[in-house]
Amino acid sequence: MKFFIDTANLAQIKEAQELGVLDGVTTNPSLMAKEGITGKDNILKHYVDICNIVDGDVSAEVISTDYESMIKEGEELAELHDQIVVKVPMIKDGIKAIKYFSDKGIRTNCTLVFSVGQALLAAKAGASYVSPFIGRLDDISTDGLNLIAEIRHVYDNYNFDTEILAASVRHTMHVIDCAKIGADVMTGPLSSIEGLLKHPLTDSGLAKFLEDYKKGN
Ligand code: E4P
Repeated sequence: MKFFIDTANLAQIKEAQELGVLDGVTTNPSLMAKEGITGKDNILKHYVDICNIVDGDVSAEVISTDYESMIKEGEELAELHDQIVVKVPMIKDGIKAIKYFSDKGIRTNCTLVFSVGQALLAAKAGASYVSPFIGRLDDISTDGLNLIAEIRHVYDNYNFDTEILAASVRHTMHVIDCAKIGADVMTGPLSSIEGLLKHPLTDSGLAKFLEDYKKGN
């Protein structure tokens, strides 16, 4: 399972990279705005800064919603760095754009996916990644993890190459449950990754080992 961090915060991206288990980064317009990154030039520069920190894929989202503009914007994003994956919304023109990018060898992440049907369409269009938002489904009393399981089942039926990128991961149990189901990737906050470290028996066991070492020395 690949671990992506879902942020545009360079300090957190560096921290996750230094942990040694980071496989990529996802961003979206809200996350860029949260870091105060505004204006096209600053946004493009920020994507390059992120690519220079991590070894893996970096999702950069188009703002356009019509086919022609998405193509222009996506090609510009893809030119920035070979780690860039063009993030395209799950709308009709988005599907057409994903097919275009796929034919041209430009990698894509189909975002804002909330149903199996949408995920099927993204795979048919040749998306490299599909991003079902599990946390946002949970927020409206719908089982986000069940969507991951259903997409896994459908993709396995047909051996689609599209990777399931569990997005809108909010906490560590989401990470563990996505791994059990077989999501290819998860993207979440740094805290969802660091939560995997935690167990009270590890802490008490280490304290005891160190205490016993001191006694004997
Ligand atoms: C990832 O690609 C999404 O942009 C992100 O996971 C959305 O998460 P949120 O629902 O916590 O905003």
